[in-house]
Amino acid sequence: MRNFIILGIETSCDETAVSILEFKKGCFRILSNLVSSQVKVHAPFGGVVPSLAKREHQKNLIPVLKMALKEAWLLKTPAFAKATAGRQNSKLKTIKQILERDEILLKKLIPFLKKYQKPGIDLIAVTYGPGLAPALWPGINLARALSHYWQIPLLPINHLEGHIYANWLTPIGADAKSQSASWRTNSKHLFPAMALIVSGGHTQLILIKNWGDYKLIGETRDDAAGECFDKSARLLGLGYPGGPAIAAEANKFSISNFQFPIKLPRPMLNSQDFDFSFSGLKTAVLYLVEKLKKEKKNIENLIPALANEIQNSINEVLISKTIKAAKKYKAKSIILGGGVAANQSLLNRFSETIKKELAKVQFIFPERKFSTDNAAMIALTAYFNLKNGGRKTNWKNLEADANLRLKEIK
Ligand code: KG4
Ligand code: ZN
Repeated sequence: MRNFIILGIETSCDETAVSILEFKKGCFRILSNLVSSQVKVHAPFGGVVPSLAKREHQKNLIPVLKMALKEAWLLKTPAFAKATAGRQNSKLKTIKQILERDEILLKKLIPFLKKYQKPGIDLIAVTYGPGLAPALWPGINLARALSHYWQIPLLPINHLEGHIYANWLTPIGADAKSQSASWRTNSKHLFPAMALIVSGGHTQLILIKNWGDYKLIGETRDDAAGECFDKSARLLGLGYPGGPAIAAEANKFSISNFQFPIKLPRPMLNSQDFDFSFSGLKTAVLYLVEKLKKEKKNIENLIPALANEIQNSINEVLISKTIKAAKKYKAKSIILGGGVAANQSLLNRFSETIKKELAKVQFIFPERKFSTDNAAMIALTAYFNLKNGGRKTNWKNLEADANLRLKEIK
């Protein structure tokens, strides 16, 4: 059987990501996985500015795509034989229509298409939601344009599902057989699984009954856990993104430096449902910082203690609710996904609690580099979706869906 190659494109937030995966006989290899971060652009604003994200995606998509193709040995000149030039030129007209609102991207795409050959790609997978609509569109429109120009089928992918499948990605260079073997052995003891998706935009508990069969059982009523990390970090004068900044400060905290107790609430820890709420925690951080300033306390010295307490508060609520849900639904595994799953303290405490309270439950979390947004997870999700009857879409019909939910099979 010939290799099956999937190109993944992801632009739902502030990472411009392109990845190429090769599948053969149930095994896969990551041929390239590039993420161009916009952190520096958004940092002065303390959060992602949608219009800037759109502009940056437009600027970066073609250079990132080119590099991804090159790393995968799929970038070849010349573009096409003279005989087919006429047909290609008429397609370029359509591409101008597809990208009429992405002028910067269009200017980079046309010379790229004219210069390089159609690569040996069998499927284009692109995130179509959930996410910031202005950020989603350039990725979607590039995928539509490539699908039309190169005549390659298109499969729209749910970003949250991507974060779930990110658990089955292992680094470039890892043995393809061991990668695929890991998902096969796991899957026997996987379902029902309780997944916690924790990112800058989402905090959801999802019961996974089988591959592709999801039931949302709880979610945040206001801010996402990552958003709480980001907003609290801003209140402490730490950089953006706030999660890694808070984690780094919390690491400096040692109990021996402890001057007086700093206590923040654990929102909805004991509520009967599986919902979360983190906006009150951010407000509590604000009041606490104001109180400490009034008391003329040296905030600088207290930052590690404050960061430690913020991290503990968020993590305790996440862990407690997930464990409760796993018990109720008799989960065989607990699966993490999303940027906050890069938090080492969260992983350590999760692992300890699962060992203590649910010894037989398998704990699955992504490699750190695959926790945050990337396109390899989008390409891998496409492969699973295809195997499970996922439908390809005509480029004419694909639109961004900023509030897309995970599919529930009743
Ligand atoms: O999944 P992701 O890259 O993008 C979204 O889909 O939102 O997640 C980004 C979020 C940010 O809020 C960031 O602060 C948080 O993940 N994050 C972390 C850590 N690394 C990233 N939060 C806590 N600890 C970390 N080490
Ligand atoms: Zn994400």
